[in-house]
Amino acid sequence: MTTTLVTNIGRLVTNDPALDAGPLGLVEQAAFVVEDERVVWVGAATHAPAADHRVDAGGRAVVPGFVDSHSHLLFAGDRTAEFNARMSGQPYAAGGIRTTVAATRAASDADLEANLTRYLTEALRQGTTTFETKSGYGLTTLDEARALRIAAAYTDEVTYLGAHIVSPDYADDPAAYVELVTGEMLDACAPHARWVDVFCEKGAFDGDQARAILTAGKAKGLHPRVHANQLSYGPGVQLAVELDAASADHCTHLTDADVDALASGHTVATLLPGAEFSTRAEWPDARRLLDAGVTVALSTDCNPGSSFTSSVPFCIALAVRDMRMTPDEALWSATAGGAAALRRTDIGRLAPGAYADFAVLDAPSHVHLAYRPGVPLVTEVWRRGVRAV
Ligand code: NIG
Ligand code: FE
Repeated sequence: MTTTLVTNIGRLVTNDPALDAGPLGLVEQAAFVVEDERVVWVGAATHAPAADHRVDAGGRAVVPGFVDSHSHLLFAGDRTAEFNARMSGQPYAAGGIRTTVAATRAASDADLEANLTRYLTEALRQGTTTFETKSGYGLTTLDEARALRIAAAYTDEVTYLGAHIVSPDYADDPAAYVELVTGEMLDACAPHARWVDVFCEKGAFDGDQARAILTAGKAKGLHPRVHANQLSYGPGVQLAVELDAASADHCTHLTDADVDALASGHTVATLLPGAEFSTRAEWPDARRLLDAGVTVALSTDCNPGSSFTSSVPFCIALAVRDMRMTPDEALWSATAGGAAALRRTDIGRLAPGAYADFAVLDAPSHVHLAYRPGVPLVTEVWRRGVRAV
């Protein structure tokens, strides 16, 4: 067993409530000890125990690695033309997904994997040490299953999203597509996935269809998460809470009853400000959710249509500037909040027992992630106790 002491940390975010140091569990002039893949000790640098190796953080800030609990990285092609049209005044519509479906079906396995690793590398450089990702651009049994198979080689957090939109092949018979998604396609996909997701939205799947899809996924051992209330008000959020989904994602259009449902259940609200940025839509109201006691996660939603960013720091800056979150809340939501949205306690915090996943910032504190937007402050990234960047 090898131990490493990370010391001379100016300000450390632990997210450890046991420290009684606010929601972020802040420790000044801090150090921690890593044994193999996990943290075994956290405290003041002056009290640090001896270790085999020593890493000097140079007085910089250290934060838990970001947990990006919502991305769509199994795709081919991009949608530059659609983005250009949007920035000239065209609205975003879910139908653009079809463009990516055609490109993804035409891509080889090697192309899909190369694309995935490209965006993963980008994300890692920006401090993401855990990511969830989904199928949803194949929409045939074979194409959905291969996307999940490829993803499963890179993460445990794999989501079956055969119900992204009704496949163009079934445009005249959506009911038959729901049957496929809950039958043969689910059978082929379930072995490669942990989660089942549905885009519950006008133009995608309505509440009854979403319920059927999530319930069928649950019966196959998949746990639900829902694309809910992104483009309009609808039943997605309340359905997510009713089915004890780990997360309701987007949450842009919420009634008071939706907020109450989230506050009374165990479903995390995952906010994805990259999508509002790239679609010029109104921002989700993080303040309203936080004030109601809802657990909020922040993620990228990285996908070629509505949010083509792999940068959690960028999303933190947007959330602080435009969604009424404090820098502390945004940092928590992008780390411990993401972990909660994946129902995990072994990531998103730097406390004894957790994985040693962390980022060193070229800044005196995590606040600079929002204070200095667009600046590459992440200078080192460690994953499972090993330096990755
Ligand atoms: O999360 N909302 C549905 N799915 C994606 C958009 C995908 C696309 O436009 O390609 C999202 O925003
Ligand atoms: Fe999404």
